[in-house]
Amino acid sequence: MIVFPLLWFLFSTISTSSHQNTLVCNETEKRALLSFKHTLSDPAHRLSSWSTHEDCCGWNGVYCHNITGRVIKLDLRNLGSSNFSLGGKVSPALLQLEFLNYLNLSGNNFGGTPIPGFLGSMRSLTYLDLSFASFGGLIPPQLGNLSNLQHLKLGGGVSFYEPQLYVENLGWISHLSSLEFLTMYEVDLQREVHWLESTSMLSSLSELYLVACELDNMSPSLGYVNFTSLTGLSLPWNHFNHEIPNWLFNLSTCHILLNGLDLSYNQLTGQIPEYLGNLSSLEYLVLYGNRLNGTLPSSLWRLSNLVYLDIGNNSLAGTISEVHFNKLSKLKYLDMSSASLIFKVKSNWVPPFQLEEMWMNSCQMGPHFPTWLETQTSLRYLDISKSGIVDIAPKWFWKWASHIDRRLIDLSDNQISGNLSGVLLNNTYIDLSSNCFMGELPRLSPQVSLLNMANNSFSGPISPFLCQKLNGKSNLEILDMSTNNLSGELSHCWTYWQSLTRLNLGNNNLSGKIPDSMGSLFELEALHLHNNRLSGDIPPSLRNCKSLGLLDLGGNKLSGNLPSWMGERTTLVALSLRSNKLIGNIPPQICWLSSLIILDVANNSLSGTIPKCFNNFSLMATIGTEDDSFSVFEYYYDYYYYYYRYIGAPNYENLILVTKGKESEYKSILKLVRSIDLSSNDLWGSIPIEISSLSGLEFLNLSCNNLMGTIPEKMGRMKALESLDLSRNHLSGEIPQSMKNLSFLSHLNLSYNNFSGRIPSSTQLQSFDAFSYIGNAELCGAPLTKNCTEDEDFQGIDVIDENEGGSEILWFHIGMGLGFIVGFWGVCGALLLKKAWRHAYFHFLYRVKDWVYVAIAIRLNRLQNNLRVFLNFKAQKL
Ligand SMILES: *[C@@H]1O[C@H](CO)[C@@H](O)[C@H](O)[C@H]1NC(C)=O
Ligand SMILES: *[C@@H]1O[C@H](CO)[C@@H](O)[C@H](O)[C@H]1NC(C)=O
Ligand SMILES: *[C@@H]1O[C@H](CO)[C@@H](O)[C@H](O)[C@H]1NC(C)=O
Ligand SMILES: *[C@@H]1O[C@H](CO)[C@@H](O)[C@H](O)[C@H]1NC(C)=O
Ligand SMILES: *[C@@H]1O[C@H](CO)[C@@H](O)[C@H](O)[C@H]1NC(C)=O
Ligand SMILES: *[C@@H]1O[C@H](CO)[C@@H](O)[C@H](O)[C@H]1NC(C)=O
Ligand SMILES: *[C@@H]1O[C@H](CO)[C@@H](O)[C@H](O)[C@H]1NC(C)=O
Ligand SMILES: *[C@@H]1O[C@H](CO)[C@@H](O)[C@H](O)[C@H]1NC(C)=O
Ligand SMILES: *[C@@H]1O[C@H](CO)[C@@H](O)[C@H](O)[C@H]1NC(C)=O
Ligand SMILES: *[C@@H]1O[C@H](CO)[C@@H](O)[C@H](O)[C@H]1NC(C)=O
Repeated sequence: MIVFPLLWFLFSTISTSSHQNTLVCNETEKRALLSFKHTLSDPAHRLSSWSTHEDCCGWNGVYCHNITGRVIKLDLRNLGSSNFSLGGKVSPALLQLEFLNYLNLSGNNFGGTPIPGFLGSMRSLTYLDLSFASFGGLIPPQLGNLSNLQHLKLGGGVSFYEPQLYVENLGWISHLSSLEFLTMYEVDLQREVHWLESTSMLSSLSELYLVACELDNMSPSLGYVNFTSLTGLSLPWNHFNHEIPNWLFNLSTCHILLNGLDLSYNQLTGQIPEYLGNLSSLEYLVLYGNRLNGTLPSSLWRLSNLVYLDIGNNSLAGTISEVHFNKLSKLKYLDMSSASLIFKVKSNWVPPFQLEEMWMNSCQMGPHFPTWLETQTSLRYLDISKSGIVDIAPKWFWKWASHIDRRLIDLSDNQISGNLSGVLLNNTYIDLSSNCFMGELPRLSPQVSLLNMANNSFSGPISPFLCQKLNGKSNLEILDMSTNNLSGELSHCWTYWQSLTRLNLGNNNLSGKIPDSMGSLFELEALHLHNNRLSGDIPPSLRNCKSLGLLDLGGNKLSGNLPSWMGERTTLVALSLRSNKLIGNIPPQICWLSSLIILDVANNSLSGTIPKCFNNFSLMATIGTEDDSFSVFEYYYDYYYYYYRYIGAPNYENLILVTKGKESEYKSILKLVRSIDLSSNDLWGSIPIEISSLSGLEFLNLSCNNLMGTIPEKMGRMKALESLDLSRNHLSGEIPQSMKNLSFLSHLNLSYNNFSGRIPSSTQLQSFDAFSYIGNAELCGAPLTKNCTEDEDFQGIDVIDENEGGSEILWFHIGMGLGFIVGFWGVCGALLLKKAWRHAYFHFLYRVKDWVYVAIAIRLNRLQNNLRVFLNFKAQKL
């Protein structure tokens, strides 16, 4: 056993050294490679060895035949970030590499340029991979000349403004008589109605992947389909909205579909056909995310080779019990999430399988805890959230859960109880939120990256948790323990948790000061400590949290000044210090926060005047603008990928704001909110006219202060205002005529001031009832009952400039529409969506490797940015 590897080692050293001695590359080919390099861009100098080495067979990515020394393989795939991409022009010099049989340019970035047609003349190619390399435009039909080609991979990587790859027709593909593997990502195939016929002509084709290719019909136009060697068929993310077609039945009678069938993320209707059970060699069956209904066919349970069964997110009905799984001993992956199925097995069931992943969110498994999980020794992803479990978590569970490398434990949204004191949590992602867990907090192993225990009944002091001795450096990034009964001081142990990016301890009973050591959380982006009993100053050390985007310290007993250093934390987007005991002025430095969209310091004892520089809040001064800094509001879990796409809904930060006179929780919509709330303080002086330039501001509340003077004449410029509260001040003068232009205003309170004169007539201002205006003795006209005398009946001059207006309003309408939709989902649907879409397929990425995620994450980012630029551009054009 030991001799063999040793021999092999000796042999391989001898053989490599010998071929190093004999191999010298062909001069012509060397020159060809150099001119190929010449037209490429290579910012990361990946091809630097191409100039230094004499022998081109030793160049990075170049492989020569071990006897003839001719170049046979060119592997320039980019596995790293987009920074390592090659780009530029693919030179026809490649044609001189007569014996090249392998060309891999995947993961590079050719900026939407077309695939060069000359590739069709490289007759010796057997492998051609141009996927995720940002090629765009028409796929050259010349590729049909590659009669030796066995693997072809195209598509993917183009950004929003670059042209997608497309075909006019796929006739050329039927000439690829040796083709065994065909993969296309995001290639627009909708012009080719005969895609099925063209591909089924390929008699050697064994795997066909057409991912997100705009296909809408799986019915053969000739009435039959003649795949002869197909073992795998993957057509996810297309637009099929019919029933699962019968021709698959023919594949089943021929027993050829061996490997897998993936029709996920379409809109397939009807039932899962009984004949699928005849595909007896099927290992992967993926029907996730369709509209399939009815019950599961009994034949399904005969598929004894199934490794991967994914029928989640459909409208399937019926009860599944242990007998169904009798033959599925090879099952490793089971997804029945959101499929409206009932999963009912005996507590002493010993399943024949050993699962690695189990996604059962929203599948009715309760009310008893699934005790059979104890038999599953290899399970790495466990999601039984929202599954109707009302039970105590059994004693063995936590020990079981901490064993081996279990990455995800998601028990959220059940009524699971139990005491976690002394338990060690040892998983990368742990979500226990919205259950009935109680007792003291558990301990953590360093590998925990996400811990959500919000909305339970954990109690006792928090410091033993924070100061626990970790067996290594913590990886905790997200910690949510909000809405529990935790008490005590925040401790001085924050230096242990330096990888934290998001921390939520809101709605507990924490007391004492905010410790200085929190300033060591350098990565912190969001900090919620709201609704506790914290006292003392806001510690100056927090200025070290250089990434802080959201700071919510509302509902505590914090005293001292609103610190002026806060102006240095220019990453801040949302700041809530409401309902504390802060004193002193609002420091003008606060205006340095040009990304701020939410400023809430209501209900403190702040005095002095409102700084005149609020017009520096530039994101409140424009309508519909997005900003990179808004990324603080949403975050993603890295297991949400299927193929190369991020498929989960993001997780959202939340903030309680008082808008339109009532408290509301804002989540996914948060980035659309623009709000200033300075109410219930001791502010005096006048309302600075600068505030009226905040034309994107939606909510302005200055009520219950000692403000004097008049409403700025140009208030009507704040066209986005939905809610304006100036009540209970000493404001006087007339209500400016420009306020007639506030067409989105739906909440107005000017009561208890000294306003006088006629309320300007507009449908908007008269639509409020008299309570909006009462307590102003000199105010007259509708909706007040007091009639105006002739003196008061002066209609002021409309101060609004003629040339601003219409277009912005129109654009804002569009924004409002979006805002409304997002808002609706934000309030009602975010939670639902998050779970319903959660779907991790790490194991199923059987053809796509990690590098694609990186490439795509970057691409998604780019796409978002581009979309933004595009929308802004549109807004300007309107
Ligand atoms: C090098 O390649 C050229 C072009 O393919 C060919 O004509 C020539 O014979 C090759 N030289 C050797 C030594 O193989
Ligand atoms: C050359 O490569 C072929 C195929 O890769 C292999 O079978 C053969 O053993 C190699 N010959 C030498 C001398 O390494
Ligand atoms: C890529 O380059 C950018 C700008 O040059 C840099 O900020 C970033 O850190 C680089 N990323 C990687 C993964 O090297
Ligand atoms: C090309 O490289 C990518 C990236 O590693 C890899 O996934 C793919 O299998 C390669 N293509 C071929 C045809 O070998
Ligand atoms: C390749 O295909 C094109 C179009 O399909 C054809 O015109 C051409 O003659 C073929 N042969 C070569 C060597 O390019
Ligand atoms: C199934 O195969 C038979 C013959 O092999 C053929 O006549 C029939 O049309 C095929 N059905 C479909 C839907 O392709
Ligand atoms: C299906 O393809 C095979 C091989 O290409 C061929 O022999 C057979 O005649 C075809 N059948 C139909 C119905 O087209
Ligand atoms: C399945 O949905 C279709 C509509 O898509 C409906 O006509 C049919 O009655 C449903 N079947 C069952 C069993 O619910
Ligand atoms: C925690 O998990 C790791 C694997 O991720 C494992 O090696 C270790 O033994 C576990 N620790 C305990 C205490 O179970
Ligand atoms: C206000 O004027 C209307 C007619 O313009 C009159 O009917 C009404 O009685 C007056 N109300 C008061 C309180 O004077």
